[in-house]
Amino acid sequence: MTKKIILDCDPGHDDAVAIMLAAASNNIEILGITCVGGNSTLENTQLNALKICTLINRTDIKIYAGSNKPINYDLVTAAHVHGKSGLDTDGDPIIVDSSYKIQEENAVDFIINECHKYIDPIYLCPTGPLTNIALSLQKDPSIKEKIKEIVFMGGAALCIGNITPSAEFNIYVDPHAANIVLKSGIPITMMGLDVTHKVNVNDEIIKNIKKNNNKSSKFFAELMNFYSRFHRQLYEIDESPLHDPCVIAYLIDETIFKGKLVNVQVEENSELTRGKTVVDWLGVTNRQPNCKVITEANANKFFDLLSNELSKLT
Ligand code: RIB
Ligand code: CA
Repeated sequence: MTKKIILDCDPGHDDAVAIMLAAASNNIEILGITCVGGNSTLENTQLNALKICTLINRTDIKIYAGSNKPINYDLVTAAHVHGKSGLDTDGDPIIVDSSYKIQEENAVDFIINECHKYIDPIYLCPTGPLTNIALSLQKDPSIKEKIKEIVFMGGAALCIGNITPSAEFNIYVDPHAANIVLKSGIPITMMGLDVTHKVNVNDEIIKNIKKNNNKSSKFFAELMNFYSRFHRQLYEIDESPLHDPCVIAYLIDETIFKGKLVNVQVEENSELTRGKTVVDWLGVTNRQPNCKVITEANANKFFDLLSNELSKLT
């Protein structure tokens, strides 16, 4: 059965690949894309979403603007990873037709209205800071009954952080939003750095996907060539973790992944550990399990899926 999803994102090179994967899959219906400040300002992330959907000839996908900052903190962006625009590449600029605009309705109201629109509950797939999701839950808690699962990219259960030694970027940016989502009682699956660092892009993978010889696969290569620069320097290895597409790949074929239902809470205020996902992996507290934390992936199956799906796009 096709899964109806809202993809909430901060494009962002890896968000762009998640959008392409979702758009390509016959198992997924994108109800809309909602944007949030994160990798870059909201102004940039929403424009980047328009560019990505233009590139893949999917201007039927409606895009909504959400929050330009976290609930309590000031916005922290990741220009060091994604460039000034949030989607820097060495390729040709993508020109968005003037008729393809951000929707009037704001992202929070869109999320709430979509949750109430369908008899069957829908999937929320955040791949940026969780601000929009948290604000939707705060504005209308009754949507909890209308959400089948929240599958998000963020956190780090058993590994180090990537924006601080203890925190992953999305959760670091808005830890308050993360706790609102984690305390919601909704079925939640966390694609943290533990698993995303097991699906690493390298030159061979980029070259093989480019052999699809279609616009979208070539765009994937352009994105990854830029995105790889930061990761090669930071991790001193010729590969880069492909974070956000894990969310979509999980919805398409969850057998690619393995995880465990545990309790996850987030540090909100500590100067030293703000944004740390405190994961009770061994069950040493009496905290109720609230999140399936994914830690393993079959990388070959993941990249075979990604390449096959991208080959279906323009
Ligand atoms: O830490 C990686 C996450 O932060 C990814 O979602 C990336 O796009 C950024 O949003
Ligand atoms: Ca992202």
